Amino acid sequence: MNDVTAKIREMRIVPVVAIENADDANSLGDALILGGLPGAEITFRTDAALNAITILAKRTDLLVGAGTVLKVDQAKAAVEHGAKYIVSPGINPRVVDYCVKNNIPIMPGVCTPTDIETALDFGLDIVKFFPAEAFGGLKTLQAISAPYKMMYFLPTGGINQKNLLDYLAFSKVWACGGSWMVKSDLIASGRFDEITRLTREAVELAAQAKLSR
Ligand code: 3PG
Repeated sequence: MNDVTAKIREMRIVPVVAIENADDANSLGDALILGGLPGAEITFRTDAALNAITILAKRTDLLVGAGTVLKVDQAKAAVEHGAKYIVSPGINPRVVDYCVKNNIPIMPGVCTPTDIETALDFGLDIVKFFPAEAFGGLKTLQAISAPYKMMYFLPTGGINQKNLLDYLAFSKVWACGGSWMVKSDLIASGRFDEITRLTREAVELAAQAKLSR
């Protein structure tokens, strides 16, 4: 654990953002803060990602990471522009090696025991479980995590307000990632009030999980 992963643990939710226009970045940041969630993973699924990271990373009230990082150059650029952590859909050894050697927190995607053991070899103890629901959801996560007592997971993919609590109740879940409160169409159409509402709802759910543990 480090300061970044500790903060993610505290938030319990990582909003996964695909933003088309970096001009919307600050309004998105404001909406997340108002909703009580001071962090976002900005994915390289759009061309605006790096500019959005640059804008959001200047704020002191948000923990900004980069997602869908597929290449070392993207990881490098994201960190140079202020991203504090890296997330990737799969476990690319070159990207992970670069991050580990440069002390950059990285949560690569895994969905098999082999992937988990690759992550263990790199000394990682938190990985993304992706795509969570399509791979069998919580039941699969419980089964594949069982041999690896030291590993924690960031399930992402198909998580929403309906299944969030179930995932958070599982002790091996560090936090959950998802786009349900920051959908691209909400950002593009300027519906930041709705983003705040969905974010607040998610934060309140996550608080219940904390209380029930
Ligand atoms: C990701 O990039 O991690 C996922 O696409 C997020 O999954 P979701 O859109 O199903 O929440």
